[in-house]
This record gives sequence, C-alpha cells and structure tokens, in this order.
Amino acid sequence: MIINRIKPQGFCGGVKRAIDIVNDLLNKPDTVKPIYMLGSLIHNEHIINEFKNKGIIVLPDTLTKDEMVDEVNSGTIIISAHGISPIVLAKAKEKGLNIIDTTCPYVSLIHKNITSALANNKDIIYIGTKNHPEVQGVLGISSKINLVTNKDDIANLNLNTDNPYVTNQTTLSIYDIKDYYDLIKEKYPNSYLDNKICMATTERQKAVKEQEQTDLCIIVGDKKSSNTQKLVSVSELANIKTILVDSLEDLKKYSLNNINKISISSGASTPSYLVDEIINYLNNIK
Ligand code: F3S
Repeated sequence: MIINRIKPQGFCGGVKRAIDIVNDLLNKPDTVKPIYMLGSLIHNEHIINEFKNKGIIVLPDTLTKDEMVDEVNSGTIIISAHGISPIVLAKAKEKGLNIIDTTCPYVSLIHKNITSALANNKDIIYIGTKNHPEVQGVLGISSKINLVTNKDDIANLNLNTDNPYVTNQTTLSIYDIKDYYDLIKEKYPNSYLDNKICMATTERQKAVKEQEQTDLCIIVGDKKSSNTQKLVSVSELANIKTILVDSLEDLKKYSLNNINKISISSGASTPSYLVDEIINYLNNIK
C-alpha cells in the first residue's frame, strides 16, 4: 500500500491556541468553578470528550449561544474558537460570569472589520454557511448584515448603496469563493472585497487539490467541521474518490479492496494521533 500523508496537517494556530487556553484554565487552582463550555470549543468530538472528562460542562450545540448563557448562573464560561455575538457576550458580562474567550484571531478580525465598516455606514455582505457558529456570531454584530449562503442570495440582494463591504467565513472553499466575489462585483462594481479565508484553510485546500492522483483520499475529521468538509469537496474537485472519517473505527466500515494508493489529509481541528492510528492500520493490512 502506498500512503501519501498530505502536508500540512495537525492543529491550525487558532485551534491550538484555544486548546492551550482551556488547558491553562484547568491547571489554575483559582479558576472559578463550575466551568462551562458554550458548545464545542472546536469541531472535534474526541477533544470535546477529553475536556468533559476533565470536568468541563459542555453545553449542547443544539442550543443557541444566547440560550447557553441563559443556562449559566455562576462560574466560568468558555467562548469557542468560532467566536460569539457581541450581544451575547454583553449578556454574559452582565450576569457577572468569568469569561474566557478563545475566539480565533482570524474571526476577531472579521468582527472588527465589519463593526468598523458599519460605523462608516457601509452595507455589509457576508458569505457563509447559515447555522455555523462562526456565522451566527458574526450575524449577531448587526441585523443589517446581508448573509449570502448561495448564488441566488446575490441575485436577491437589494442594498441601499453601491459600494458594500464584502467579506466571508474563514473556512469556505478557496475554489468556490471567487465565483461569489465575481458575481458580487458584477452587481456592485464599487464593492470592497475582503476575502478572509484563513491561511490554514487555504494551505490545506491547495495541498489536497494539487495532490498526485490516487485510488482513494481519506479526509480525517469531524463531520461538523466546516474546514474538514471543504477538504472533501476540494479533493472531489481533483476527481479523486474521497471519504470523510472521524477515526480508525469509522474507516473500518469501508472496503479497501483494490485500493493500492491512498492519500490522507485532515481538518484543522483533527488531532494528529487519529491520523497516525489510521496510517499504522493501513501499513499493516497489506
Ligand atoms: Fe482560525 Fe482558520 Fe483555524 S479561522 S481556528 S486558523 S481554521
């Protein structure tokens, strides 16, 4: 079996930073307890379960962030790497909760830029996936933000000005975003386009798209992770049969008959040991 481990892999800077912040918090004896996590810190169930085992109460992602804050009356809350809306943050402050913010700096920059564009009376167009927590956090900045989730949304835009500020979720496909920006520029030629797909997402997608042909590409990561899902679509764009698995156990559900050459990539929130386990397994089956 020929195995190509596509690089880069491992945690991106934003995920590593978030995990380090939480581990530091757990190691501090004076941390105000109980400790709540407002939904998944990052989209990886293995990591979230490790934090649960260390005593953190993880509020379910089925609740909105606002509902999560309603659930907590004392102690510490951890804001996920995806960020949070300023209104929900203010509510948590009003309740006197100890707040630990792990928002990725790439996401914080988008909040800052949109806030500043709104202060300059700009219309805002934001391209993202409707229910993703990063998008929900950004939309919470202002009801005036125009969310674009597909190309029809662009056709339906009806702005007050012809020079909107246009930006996007950090983990979209670098291969899809150009079409969106081209369509917006065609409709609003004076748009200011500020593509904010982050470096980790960009590098991984390029590496997957430019990989050598192979019988199967395995993307390792959580099915809820946006950047992981996009690696699957980019690999399929390169005409390679691709599967998404979250662990070795998940991979074992697939037949590897007639597969002689495999490539492996992983999402930015996937711990390296999950990929190592899969590679060890593959090395030993043929
Ligand atoms: Fe941040 Fe990009 Fe990672 S937005 S959390 S560096 S995937």
